[in-house]
Amino acid sequence: MKIHRRQIMGGFAALSFSACANLPIEKNKLGQGKNNMKKPIIIAHRGASGYRPEHTLASYELAIAQNCDFIEPDLVITKDGHLICRHENNISETTNVAMHPEFAGRKTTKIVDGESMTGWFTEDFTLAEIKTLRAKERLPQLRHDNTNYDNQFEVPTFEEVLQLREKKSKELGREIGVYPETKHPSYFAKNGLYYDDALLAHLDKYGLNSNDAPVFIQSFETQNLKKLSQKTKVKLIQLMQEDDGPWDSQEKWVVTYKSMTSKEGLKEIAKYAYGIGPQKTMILPRDANNKSTLPTNLVKDAHESGLKLHPWTFRAENYFLPLEYQNGDKNDTKFMALHGDLASEIRLFIELGVDGVFCDFPDIAFNAINAA
Ligand code: G3P
Ligand code: CA
Repeated sequence: MKIHRRQIMGGFAALSFSACANLPIEKNKLGQGKNNMKKPIIIAHRGASGYRPEHTLASYELAIAQNCDFIEPDLVITKDGHLICRHENNISETTNVAMHPEFAGRKTTKIVDGESMTGWFTEDFTLAEIKTLRAKERLPQLRHDNTNYDNQFEVPTFEEVLQLREKKSKELGREIGVYPETKHPSYFAKNGLYYDDALLAHLDKYGLNSNDAPVFIQSFETQNLKKLSQKTKVKLIQLMQEDDGPWDSQEKWVVTYKSMTSKEGLKEIAKYAYGIGPQKTMILPRDANNKSTLPTNLVKDAHESGLKLHPWTFRAENYFLPLEYQNGDKNDTKFMALHGDLASEIRLFIELGVDGVFCDFPDIAFNAINAA
């Protein structure tokens, strides 16, 4: 089973899982994990998105209360150039824009990174207009409780996230980090909208534009990271997805993320990035029955190239877990939404030597890491 991040619910109804033995991978077969004494950082993926609609201040605030080290805002750009927190520029699934008759005429079809999609897009809205919308749960089938918060929270700006980070860091006496992702940078650039100046100006304003600041900037694209590496000392993370490639290179059909994980590829990444953010199955693949197999060499090879690894995404629902960590009755109609043993999955990745985890459930990650 492969789950594409852009098609997260597309195959939900069609998925079936084998009833193979529910046993975790045997630790003595792992063959890695020499880095297992260091605690990985917890990156609250879209906030505590397992408990609140993603990319809302409520989600980030809960993540901080649950002891995350970093909060992760995905960033997109408005028509008037503001950076706002959404996973994609199509805001149809995560806001109530469809309920606003004044915006009905803005529904349109666009091609974003080669995919045709119909909906409402941030580049067609000013920030003032975005602020009239309210967030809603992306995964109501899996996270029904979160729908209780639908239509309550605004779409936050990046600046509001930085203000929250600063306030909470002072209150709690510990530095909360921020881990922004630039979404679709080459697409936005073709539309005359750019990340770099605004992103770095915000980091400057809040005293975060330095190598030792608690900040990572991440991207699935490569060219923007290379350019950023010339403009800032902030640590950069090259994201990767199995069976895909960076869109800015993929356009020319020459580079895949798999090719970038060769020893030569990793050395190239190390010239501009501090680390990589691979899909977790690039570290621990799964077989046709959704059962984990033996790990790849990615942790070892990346570390040998001087790169840290922050894999994504650790989620508690059976839908996202490998077979051996799923719990509950497979005949239960809610089986996919039930929580499996995420803590054990995270502990396994700690043994494999990762340096951080993107997780929707920071509380589970914190307990798993501190019990490991
Ligand atoms: O940024 C790490 C992880 O979040 C990548 O996937 O699609 O959830 O942004 P996505
Ligand atoms: Ca992200």
